Amino acid sequence: MSNHYLSRFSSSSSSSSSSSSPSISSSLFSSFSLRLPAFLSLPLLCLSAALTLAGVATNAHAADSSAQAQLTHWEQAAGTSGNADRGMRLFTSTHGQEWSCASCHGKPPTQDAQHANTGKTIAPLAPAYNPKRFTVLAKSDKWFRRNCNDVLGRECTATEKADVLAYLINIK
Ligand code: HEC
Repeated sequence: MSNHYLSRFSSSSSSSSSSSSPSISSSLFSSFSLRLPAFLSLPLLCLSAALTLAGVATNAHAADSSAQAQLTHWEQAAGTSGNADRGMRLFTSTHGQEWSCASCHGKPPTQDAQHANTGKTIAPLAPAYNPKRFTVLAKSDKWFRRNCNDVLGRECTATEKADVLAYLINIK
């Protein structure tokens, strides 16, 4: 049992940027668990289990969502289905500000596009043309908030996000 935790502990510390060398920490660790009384080795085992769980959570975060799951989420929040036509109009029009969504993402957003301000390349936003899109929920949330503020001068509503996602998913 302790060997199991020890090997996971040393593998998780070697993959992190922790400064202690894995071989030193695991040899220290095994001498601890051989000699230390139970009341000290138990907290160490808990720590190694917590580090292992933290590693699992970080890996899961790399792809925790999908475009379809995010569409369903916003449809449920809105209480209505996303409407691709409305999404296209929102995406391609200006709303009293300088830019539309298409100013940075292109029309249709199926190719690399240039950021309207910095000129940096932005990879396609339509998920059929870029499988990395809408796979990390925190990323979509962050950019919806930021870009809706730039384009509409406010955050998008749940209905508007469902509409934009329905439009983007529909582009094949
Ligand atoms: C001023 C330029 C700009 C405008 C205008 C803009 N975006 Fe973006 N958008 C970006 C950049 C930069 C990123 C982050 C870089 C990347 O993911 O390629 C991004 C990323 C996103 C993402 C993240 C997608 C993901 O999960 O990978 C969404 C969603 C998004 N934009 C939606 C919109 C919508 C909707 C509008 C219009 C309301 C809009 N954007 C307008 C520049 C812009």
